[in-house]
Amino acid sequence: MNHTPGIMTEPDLIQYREAAHLSGETRYIPDMELYRGTLTGYAVSSPHAKARLEHLDVSLARTSPGVAAVLTANDIPGPNTMAPVIDDEPCLLPEGGTCGYMGQVVCIIAADTLENAKKAASLIEWQWKVLDPVLTVEEAMKNEDFLFKPLRLKRGDPAHVMENAPFRKKGSLEAGGQEHYYFETQAAYAVPLHQGGLLIRSSTQNPTDNQRFATSLLGLKASDVEVQVGFLGGGFGGKQTQATWTVAWSALLAWKTKKPVLFIMERDQDFRLTGKRHPFKAHWEAGFDHQGRILALEISMSYDCGWCNDVSIAVLHHSLFHMDGAYYIPHIDSVLYGCRTNKPSNTAFRGFGVPQAISVIESVITQIAQTLGKDSANVRWKNYYGIRKNNRTPYNMLVEHNILRAAHRQIVQKSDYFGLRKKINAFNKKNTFKKQGLALVPGKFGISFNESFFNQAGALINIYRDGSVLIHHPGTEMGQGLHDKMRTVVHRELGVSTDFIRVADTSTSIIPNTTSTAASTGTDFSGAALKDACDKLKKRLNPIALKMMGLEKGKVVWENNTVSCKEAGTGVPFKELSFHSYMILESLSEKGFYKRENIGFNLDTMTGRPYWYYVMGSSVAHVELNLLTGQFRILDMWILHDCGEPVDKGIDMGQIHGAFMQGLGWCTLEKLITGKNGRLETYSLDNYKIPGIYELPENFHIELFQGNPEPLNIHNTRAIGEPPLIYALSVWLALQDARGTTLPIPATREELIKPLYNEE
Ligand code: MTE
Ligand code: MOS
Repeated sequence: MNHTPGIMTEPDLIQYREAAHLSGETRYIPDMELYRGTLTGYAVSSPHAKARLEHLDVSLARTSPGVAAVLTANDIPGPNTMAPVIDDEPCLLPEGGTCGYMGQVVCIIAADTLENAKKAASLIEWQWKVLDPVLTVEEAMKNEDFLFKPLRLKRGDPAHVMENAPFRKKGSLEAGGQEHYYFETQAAYAVPLHQGGLLIRSSTQNPTDNQRFATSLLGLKASDVEVQVGFLGGGFGGKQTQATWTVAWSALLAWKTKKPVLFIMERDQDFRLTGKRHPFKAHWEAGFDHQGRILALEISMSYDCGWCNDVSIAVLHHSLFHMDGAYYIPHIDSVLYGCRTNKPSNTAFRGFGVPQAISVIESVITQIAQTLGKDSANVRWKNYYGIRKNNRTPYNMLVEHNILRAAHRQIVQKSDYFGLRKKINAFNKKNTFKKQGLALVPGKFGISFNESFFNQAGALINIYRDGSVLIHHPGTEMGQGLHDKMRTVVHRELGVSTDFIRVADTSTSIIPNTTSTAASTGTDFSGAALKDACDKLKKRLNPIALKMMGLEKGKVVWENNTVSCKEAGTGVPFKELSFHSYMILESLSEKGFYKRENIGFNLDTMTGRPYWYYVMGSSVAHVELNLLTGQFRILDMWILHDCGEPVDKGIDMGQIHGAFMQGLGWCTLEKLITGKNGRLETYSLDNYKIPGIYELPENFHIELFQGNPEPLNIHNTRAIGEPPLIYALSVWLALQDARGTTLPIPATREELIKPLYNEE
């Protein structure tokens, strides 16, 4: 790295952050140096989607060469569960139990090599009674096979208002799932400690949950197990709860063998075993007036949750609270069903149920516009939440700092939306096999964990006597730039240049009881906890600094590596203050804590404040579709997104790009196919397409909305990680606009070359 010490300028910051990634130096679990004698872990899966394990015998496998241990459910010292919310997910399928999907893990093996572990696996003797799997939500709906009671949110009297509405329209929508495809597969490394207990390096968004299950499965105490996290090669939600698996398995095997165990899922195994974004089928009916204003809306969505709960109930709650999208809907009734199917257990995925909800409400608006022969952007305008009236959500939360109409106005102008509309009409008249389309999609995304106790964070700052600073926070770094942002927060608070601030690996031993780095709250939580620690440090060190300046009192500022009193025109270098404080027996270490109180909702009335604030913005997509080949180009993509005052503009811009592209994959490319027997037929990049460089919009115009700081959040910023994903829906809707038909998600090329005919 080629930067001079001292104050880092913006380009320097970017260089510092990107250097390790770009040069391939960032080290993930598979890149770790290993202890001598490290064993390799391997998981053995059920070969059926639904079957009773009648008989299991691993004795022969145990004698196979190189094998150190073969463990079954009987070998687990503690309770056999690793279910994060509702207790329906065993760690290993016990003999006599019924597997829930093809891939459910029955036993785990530790051997000297992966080859030997796999050889041993082929020696396992078992008998299964095969049962008929349930593979579709229709079947689950018919059997009323739900993982939890359907969730319902109702306001007003939609049935009555619907009856009397001037216009009515019915529709349905089907959307598929999405594989996370983090580049680093699920992985953990468990090392037995000489004083007892375990040290586990994990690729997880949720070290505390890893610790919780490693300890409960082994009958240990939380204080016996440390989980450490370096960099994740991507998480995207897939490592919120399911990173626990490799941790649990490596911990069990390390405990049994008293040897370090490295557990890395192979790509196809990870693909087949772990859960994905929730697919769904939705039916809706809208009642509206001649301007397209929604008067009443009824929605029912059947979510495919897979074989067990995982965090599905939380995903569906988040979804339910976004059925309104960016729109005030006076009378609404939405019912969400969590269907059980014999497929991998679907889990958190960037957006956490929100993209699904938004896809439904945005197709409702689009079809209302079509029915009335109006431009859908104008119908959106009619329906937005208002600032002084029509500003309460169906769950009765006030929509504050509402920039929906401002962002709409700006993006319409930036994209010359209505000018484009005319050009597109002319183009489409002239061309038979190529059609262009246009769509505008707003964003409104609630930030916080709906579950109130998750909304907390601790932090620890150590200043060393040489003036260098080590910061600890509960968040994990998965590529979203959290560590760099935290370095910037502390730099702003203490005035120390960023090259004197180091972010430690995340550890449950240093920051206990952490919340998953999820719901886009990493910066909000860790940043505020670090600021609290900075405030406390400054409070204690200010009098010392003043004394060093020969002053009794004065206003102290911390900037440019100096602690100074402007009115006295004097100051001391931060480095000297650090050393002097140490010499006079002052502690240079401080804890910080942050909590968001009063977040949550009443489960009986389904009202409350599930979010601390909303993130908003708008987007416009202009596409050109070749009707004969199904190929399309994104000619122009505009995104205007409000992240308040960004902590790091470069990172936030990167997150918008990344989230959009990932959303584009879900909307147009990534199709999961499950065979009749419940086997996932898409399990690698050979048969599953994720977005690449060729899918980029030809012109990508991303801007940050100006002038709307978030007063409730650290340094007036707003969360960024997930919300921009929903802007990809504008491409999906622009394709519908080009074809003049509805489309499912994903609108793959197979969908896009289907003949054009009126589906009704
Ligand atoms: N960006 C990268 N590069 N890699 C990731 O795994 N995960 C996303 C988002 N951006 C992810 C990412 C998801 S699902 C979330 S919830 C947030 O980052 C989490 O980090 P944050 O809370 O610090 O924004
Ligand atoms: Mo993100 S889906 O909340 O990890």
